[in-house]
Amino acid sequence: MTVSSEASTSIVPGLEEKISAARSLVAAHVNGSPGECVTCSFQAEDMIVLHMVREIYPDVPVLFLDTGYHFAETYAYRDELATAWNLNLINLTPRQSVPEQEAQFGILHQSAPDQCCKLRKVEPLFAALAEYATWFTGMRREQAKSRALMQALDHFTLPGGKQLLKISPLTDWSTRDVWYYAQEHGIPLLPLYDKGYSSIGCEPCTSLPSDPNDPRSGRWSGRKQECGIHIQAQ
Ligand code: ADX
Ligand code: SF4
Repeated sequence: MTVSSEASTSIVPGLEEKISAARSLVAAHVNGSPGECVTCSFQAEDMIVLHMVREIYPDVPVLFLDTGYHFAETYAYRDELATAWNLNLINLTPRQSVPEQEAQFGILHQSAPDQCCKLRKVEPLFAALAEYATWFTGMRREQAKSRALMQALDHFTLPGGKQLLKISPLTDWSTRDVWYYAQEHGIPLLPLYDKGYSSIGCEPCTSLPSDPNDPRSGRWSGRKQECGIHIQAQ
């Protein structure tokens, strides 16, 4: 998605303040220690958080959940940005490859998407996060009803009991804020946005949004709202 070349953060009400609040939050919690990481799906929000964190910690570990089911465009964009930004990319893969999983369980993203997400996203991420103390995400309240009450600064408990600081600097940003920041800072975005996608995950579970007012209405064809990586152990 593009915005007018004349666009400026100064004409988006409140955006300068949101940028400064997000930057302050990042600055307060990033000092380049090995305990800090960013999870990155290579969607627009994550590129902005990454952009801010890397101003302080250019080598921050960038955790990508490589489910094996992403769009070819996502893989190409990941590789392009990893090179252009010299990212410390950590590609997290599930225990089984896609062919191994499909041979054992069939097409889980059709028959049991929760189980597929558990094997390909939740388990690999939670295992990796055990090494860290501070976790940055690009989540926003506006993205889903399930995120409406989320806090920019939160604690997240892993199944083993370890607690991390979970920081989402864009919590109160709108979609428009995201586009303007990206444009102002010359951040190229995943080309799938130009095809009309508004929330982008694995290819079999992502379609064009069915409801223009709900950016995640193209995820899992409405069968579920969250993959599970943001749901913590009770
Ligand atoms: S999801 O849980 O439904 O996939 P969404 O796509 O909105 O979530 O992304 C929310 C946050 O989850 C992102 O800002 C990112 O931190 C993390 N995330 C989602 N997908 C991935 C992925 N494939 N790799 C790494 N992080 C991811
Ligand atoms: Fe599987 Fe779909 Fe979850 Fe990706 S989003 S891990 S393909 S169920």
